[in-house]
Amino acid sequence: MSIKSLIRTIPDYPKKGIMFRDITTLFSDADGLRDVIDGFAAEYQDKNIDVIAGIEARGFVIGPAVAVALGIGFVTVRKKGKLPAETISVEYDLEYGSDVIEIHKDSIKPGQRVLIMDDLIATGGTALGAIDLVEKAGGDVAGCAFIIDLPDLGGAQKIRDRGVDEFHLVEFE
Ligand code: PRP
Ligand code: ADE
Repeated sequence: MSIKSLIRTIPDYPKKGIMFRDITTLFSDADGLRDVIDGFAAEYQDKNIDVIAGIEARGFVIGPAVAVALGIGFVTVRKKGKLPAETISVEYDLEYGSDVIEIHKDSIKPGQRVLIMDDLIATGGTALGAIDLVEKAGGDVAGCAFIIDLPDLGGAQKIRDRGVDEFHLVEFE
């Protein structure tokens, strides 16, 4: 089955009007999971990425697997209050609310080429916040990669407008 057909849609979750794209059904399928990791590894194998920064929570499922495939390390971008050492924080808007994400100040070496990964881009608030964090930490954002883009919400375009390379495997209206 294709990556897209393995993603389940739950209407009105977590709020009325949201069509929630549930990737748990994709991750639990052995071929689907492998196709996702292979798809990202093929896209980035020749792009000189130094480290992957994955966004909590679902970016933690794909990011480390792609990092292993590329032979590089993995850095966590976490929700507020979870990281033990000195952090940089940014508040950002979501499709349904707002939140704060953080990164360890010393997690990225100056000038490292960082690939930001998450399962999905909607309004782009989370990914733009992660770009700010990586840049403040001294990294060079080499790209942002997602399984799913929701193009009607405009996030991927905001990433491109910021001059950052954007890649996704599937789109949903
Ligand atoms: C979801 C998704 C992205 C973000 C995308 O995470 O995994 O991180 O929303 O939305 P945006 O492009 O409008 O910012 P969520 O905030 O639901 O957190 P979770 O992964 O911890 O459940
Ligand atoms: N995060 C933000 N919007 C989402 C959606 N429609 N489905 C799944 N995750 C999301």
